[in-house]
Amino acid sequence: MEICDLNVWYGGNHVLKNINLKIPKNVIFAIMGPSGCGKSTLLRAMNRLLELNPTAKVSGQVMVDGINIYSDKIDVTWVRRQFGMVFQIPNPFPHLSIYDNVAIGPKLNGLTKSKSELDQLVRWALEKAYLWDEVKDDLRRPAAALSGGQQQRLCIARAIALKPRIILMDEPTANLDPVAAMKIEELMLELKEDYTIVIVTHNPQQAARVSDYVAFLYLGELVEVGETSQVFTRPINKLTEKYVVGRIG
Ligand SMILES: Nc1ncnc2c1ncn2[C@@H]1O[C@H](COP(=O)(O)OP(=O)(O)O)[C@@H](O)[C@H]1O
Ligand SMILES: [Mg+2]
Repeated sequence: MEICDLNVWYGGNHVLKNINLKIPKNVIFAIMGPSGCGKSTLLRAMNRLLELNPTAKVSGQVMVDGINIYSDKIDVTWVRRQFGMVFQIPNPFPHLSIYDNVAIGPKLNGLTKSKSELDQLVRWALEKAYLWDEVKDDLRRPAAALSGGQQQRLCIARAIALKPRIILMDEPTANLDPVAAMKIEELMLELKEDYTIVIVTHNPQQAARVSDYVAFLYLGELVEVGETSQVFTRPINKLTEKYVVGRIG
């Protein structure tokens, strides 16, 4: 994925300024920065979720495999299908069963031909999300009966059941306890074998733990981007240095 000259405004407020980024395949790419710097906005620009907000205006390009997803000729449904998205507050459909939370997307999109194929897909996604063993005995329980960490893994299963190419995660562990958060981080490391993962975090330690590449965003500008090990040990920019040692944000 490649982002070229991306600018975003909310009304007259210019919140992302000339962002240029290249995100390689099968990596974890972290976007870090203090609250309000534009991380969520950047993530939502990547799958055109931003256009659900009538005050948001976007200019620039987001290329996925050489295709500009902002081109007039592109079907938004196709765009959204390239991406799975996981949010800060786990948002399964609370009254639907564990099974149906995962099955509903593939069902609505006609991805499976039979009940047994759907069963297999649900199991595959729950296994991939490290949740199967904890829920296999009763897939009929409502999602609301699960713990926060399990709900978040269910949301990840729901996302990957649709076979996206890129998974966008917006502070996916911010509302979880440390043990549940660690499980999600381990899961991310496993998932990057098959997917490209973009994670937004306001926690530089988390970016250091999980990501291969990291971008530091500050007041809507991209201050620094590079390999995580380099950015954390030899940052080029003074602001990045301050941020990674915890003196900003
Ligand atoms: N829906 C919105 N309407 C207007 N302004 C918004 C909206 N969402 C975010 N903003 C503003 O855009 C800036 C970036 O916000 P956001 O992308 O949510 O930052 P972050 O995720 O880094 O906390 C902030 O100044 C915020 O107040
Ligand atoms: Mg945010």
